[in-house]
This record gives sequence, C-alpha cells and structure tokens, in this order.
Amino acid sequence: MTLAAHLLFWYRLHGRILPWRGTQNAYRILVSEIMLQQTQVSRGILFYEKWLKEFPDWDSLARATNADVIRAWAGLGYNRRALMLRDVAREVMRTGEPKSEADWRRLKGIGPYTAAALAAFALHERVLPIDTNIRRVLNRALLGIPFPDPEKDEQLKILAERFLPKKGNYFDIPQALFDLATAICTKTPDCSSCPLRNECCASEQFLQKKIQAPKQMIKKAAEKIHPGKKYPDRIYRGRILKTVREEQIIPVDKLGKKIDPSFKKTDIPWLKSMVSRLIRDGFLEENKGKLRLSQTD
Ligand code: ADE
Repeated sequence: MTLAAHLLFWYRLHGRILPWRGTQNAYRILVSEIMLQQTQVSRGILFYEKWLKEFPDWDSLARATNADVIRAWAGLGYNRRALMLRDVAREVMRTGEPKSEADWRRLKGIGPYTAAALAAFALHERVLPIDTNIRRVLNRALLGIPFPDPEKDEQLKILAERFLPKKGNYFDIPQALFDLATAICTKTPDCSSCPLRNECCASEQFLQKKIQAPKQMIKKAAEKIHPGKKYPDRIYRGRILKTVREEQIIPVDKLGKKIDPSFKKTDIPWLKSMVSRLIRDGFLEENKGKLRLSQTD
C-alpha cells in the first residue's frame, strides 16, 4: 500500500466527524477554515454552529454591518478576520463564487493556504493545502525533517503533489493529515501507533529517541509591546473592543482602567492611538468623546 492508502485506511477508522466535513459548500468551508486559524477544533465547532445560525450563507453575511459581525465574532480574537469574511461575502455576491484555486486567491484576504483549502474541499481540485500541521506531518514522512521550517515549503510542495493519489478521494487526504497531526504526529509524536511509521522518513529517529523537540517549534514574530506594559498592543486592542461590545457605548476616558488595572494618566496617548487605529480599521466609531461599535453598512 502507498503512504496515501495507509493514511486513508487509518482515517476511515479514526477520522473525526466534524460539521464542515462532508460538505462542499464553499461558504461553510471558508467560515470553518478562518475560525480554525485561530482556535482549536473543539472550540471551533461551537463558534461555527453559532455563526451559521446567524449568518447561514453568503447573502446573509454580505448584508451584515461591521457591528453585527464584530458582535458575532466575540470570543474568537483577530476581529479583522470577521470583517474580511464579510467583505469576501460581498465580493462573492457581486461577482459569483470563485471556481478555482487561482480565482479564490484573487479575493482580498484569501491567502495561499485558504485558497488551496477551498479548492481541495469545496471544488475537489487535486491540491494539497499546507498548514502548520500538514507541514509537520509531510516533512517528517516524506523528507525525514522532524521539526520543519515554514520557509522551506518549495521542495515539500513538489513531493506533496506526487503523494496525492491521481484518482479516488484525494480530497480526504488533507482532512486525514489534520487528524493524524492532532492525534499522533504531534510535536513529540507517538510513532508506535502511526499508520505511516513503516514508510515515514523520520519515525526511526523518533523511535530511537535520537532527537529532542525544540522548546518552541516556530519563532513567533515579535509584536509591539508598549514600554511598561505586560502584553502586546493587540491584546489591549482586543480588550477595548470587548469592553465597547459589552458596554455598547462608553466614554474614551473610562476605557483606560477597564483594559489595564495599572492604567495611568501618562498612558492616555497610548490608549488614544489604539482607539484611533480601531476607528481607522472600521471597528469603532467616536461621537463627542464616546465610543461604540462601527455601524457602517
Ligand atoms: N485545521 C484547518 N482546517 C481544518 C479542518 N478542516 N479540520 C480540522 N482541522 C483543521
């Protein structure tokens, strides 16, 4: 059996049943993929189902205001993605649903991974989306690289293309890889339970304990931390938005203590610059010193 056949055999027995599997609905697949970029599958299921009740299709999302989507996205973080998703829905309503990976890629906000995922799951194109999890499994299995570097995907893409079966349900392969990555091929993999262990180019190294996992697999890009503050600005911007969402309307000068118990007068310019950015990005609006969620259509 080929590597792909072993994987699919395992997937039939152990694959997870998830609400965005077994559908070719591009809207649902896009919602799931964007949510899963920032939350674990178990939490993602709850958010996904709640979102679909409010916005079941492109049309309902396209008609939502900024405030509607920011409210519905509560708890997921990276609020910019909620507005991006709504803007994609508007573009789809205007020009129709893209019919290829390349057409998806042309939409603002849709990156290479998401376009490939839509092509694989909604269009059943023979492409393999490579996210962190799939990158890890394939680097190990095909290249014998135990802890891969995202910068080096070129060689992997060529090998991955050969790895996908020419016929059959190759669109299940990435779903199977997500599950294998979560259940077995984790940072410290459980190679003795892996369906690919006999063909995998890294299993021997792991089974003989010849390698140790680095402390951090992927170096996170440095985020801006304001002098004297504990967290990156992104966290405080999230808190501002959460506060406005909950209070509905709030004077700017009441916000400081809400987002940071140690807030001082000298922090006011910092707070104002974060608020300005949230206004500029379409999240908030200000009227006579009071803030609320942007009501922009
Ligand atoms: N991660 C990204 N996309 C996924 C999916 N469709 N299922 C499980 N995990 C994922």
